[in-house]
Amino acid sequence: MRIVEEGIGVLSEYGAIPISFEVKTKLDVQVLNGGLGGVIFSEQTLTIPYVKDYDGLNGEGPARWAKRWDIRNWTVLSAFVDDRRVGGCAIAFDTKGVTMLEDRNDLAVLWDLRVHPDFRRTGIGERLFGAAAAWATNRGCRYLKVETQNNNVPACRFYAKQGCVLGALNRFAYEEFPDEVELIWYKELR
Ligand SMILES: CC(C)(COP(=O)(O)OP(=O)(O)OC[C@H]1O[C@@H](n2cnc3c(N)ncnc32)[C@H](O)[C@@H]1OP(=O)(O)O)[C@@H](O)C(=O)NCCC(=O)NCCS
Repeated sequence: MRIVEEGIGVLSEYGAIPISFEVKTKLDVQVLNGGLGGVIFSEQTLTIPYVKDYDGLNGEGPARWAKRWDIRNWTVLSAFVDDRRVGGCAIAFDTKGVTMLEDRNDLAVLWDLRVHPDFRRTGIGERLFGAAAAWATNRGCRYLKVETQNNNVPACRFYAKQGCVLGALNRFAYEEFPDEVELIWYKELR
């Protein structure tokens, strides 16, 4: 398996890798005493699993990013097994008006990370994350930041395994999905 920096020009090929996953469990987030008593996470099994596909959401999906943001400072790192594209990640950096970037130059955002379902759990995500962290470090970043949700337990476990820590949670982030909790993770780079 090799990782290649292809740049942001390959978004249509990149978007052909499925990002969808089956939601079988979720992290229930219990806020005690309005938050002053702490927060408890507990993994719960759903009675009816469902498929989540970020690309299927309104206005989302790699092919549409350029219409919403100035992506000239962003990049794509791709994973290949032989000649097959099996995964990739997109990194956002140094772009005005991108809320996730907080108007800071000492952090980059792991905007998107996807491994083809046939190749998940074989270490490709970890290699991509490491390459993204190196890319951000080379640009002087102190943090690599990433957003996920409480119904993406594989991603939460994955980020925790990469040494990310939970920086923020927002129970009211998604108007369209009021049951989902936004989780913002930070990987300290140096
Ligand atoms: C999240 C994702 C990128 C992980 O990539 P991956 O290549 O499957 O992950 P890796 O094989 O590198 O896993 C590394 C470690 O992360 C953790 N991990 C990964 N997938 C996991 C899962 N389904 N359940 C629990 N832990 C998991 C494990 O600790 C794993 O190490 P191990 O296999 O030795 O136990 C992949 O599942 C994916 O593409 N999901 C759909 C898209 C998505 O959710 N992207 C992230 C959006 S925020």
